[in-house]
Amino acid sequence: MFHTAVCDLLGIRYPILQGAMQGGGGVELVAAVSEAGGLGVLPTFGGTDQKLREDIEAVRTRTGRPFGVNIMPMGRGITERCAATCIELGIPVVTTGRADPGEAVVRRLKDAGIKVVSVIPTVEHARRMAGEGVDAVVASGSEAGGHVGTVSTLPLVPQVVDAVRIPVLAAGGIGDARGFLAAFALGAVGVQMGTRFMATEESDLNEWGRERLLAMRETDTIVTRAMTGATVRCIRTPEIVTYEEAVARGTDAATLKEMAAQVRASRYGEGKRDRRQSAAGQVAGLITGIVPVADLIEGMLAEAARLAQGLPAVAGR
Ligand SMILES: Cc1cc2nc3c(=O)[nH]c(=O)nc-3n(C[C@H](O)[C@H](O)[C@H](O)COP(=O)(O)O)c2cc1C
Repeated sequence: MFHTAVCDLLGIRYPILQGAMQGGGGVELVAAVSEAGGLGVLPTFGGTDQKLREDIEAVRTRTGRPFGVNIMPMGRGITERCAATCIELGIPVVTTGRADPGEAVVRRLKDAGIKVVSVIPTVEHARRMAGEGVDAVVASGSEAGGHVGTVSTLPLVPQVVDAVRIPVLAAGGIGDARGFLAAFALGAVGVQMGTRFMATEESDLNEWGRERLLAMRETDTIVTRAMTGATVRCIRTPEIVTYEEAVARGTDAATLKEMAAQVRASRYGEGKRDRRQSAAGQVAGLITGIVPVADLIEGMLAEAARLAQGLPAVAGR
């Protein structure tokens, strides 16, 4: 029922992408989403080329289905190296996040036959990426987890749909069949979900993160520059709240820099796996259980099909 242009473009059964998640989604999640008919996407932010190669190999031992690699433009040749590895290893889909990787990189990927999907926070950014020749864009609203802009999903998606001639997917705040269906009503032909996929059996999230996700309300996230320098939506923690209060007081740049370093230093508890700060979106408030990825996807699609049948009746009431 929900077979769209994105399914044909990316060679997937369902129009559902798992947004790359540094610290939230590793090889198990990526493989599980692809195996369940969506597109799993590996994160690369802050990682090495060796780690990317190992991750790609690990996903390939778990699924024969297509999966993607995410490139976060970070400068100093990292973007180019990451693109070169994707080309060398025959990755079918590359998604780009946070910024424009540059026309030259997009062209190299495309020349190698790779489909490029760019996550964008504004209409202008969507137009630029479409002009550079990407195959699709993900219009990601400010309610999303991770790097965000200022426009929320509801107004962003239809404006992007009107502005470009390539397929548009919606992201930001989608966590169940209702959000999935709403994306289609806005003109999207698929969705990308991040936060909801973190609350699955296959995700990388540690116990702290899982407990937090299940307990969170819709107001328990916060946007901060403390993590990467750009605006990132995270789980609200005391450390980030203290930092943002200092920002609001007009604290000087040098002190803020020191405080941001402290926030990042408080990222881990006992060990590296014990991450105590994490990106997450407002949809966290909707999450009530940790489920297997396949159940999440199948359940969402079945419920969306059921809801879709009832829509005209609701509208006519
Ligand atoms: C923990 C976490 C880490 C993320 N890391 C990345 C990343 O490395 N690259 C990227 O392009 N997007 C990243 N994102 C954004 C997601 O790919 C996705 O677009 C977003 O989560 C969608 O919004 P939602 O959380 O409301 O579903 C991250 C999101 C989360 C929650």
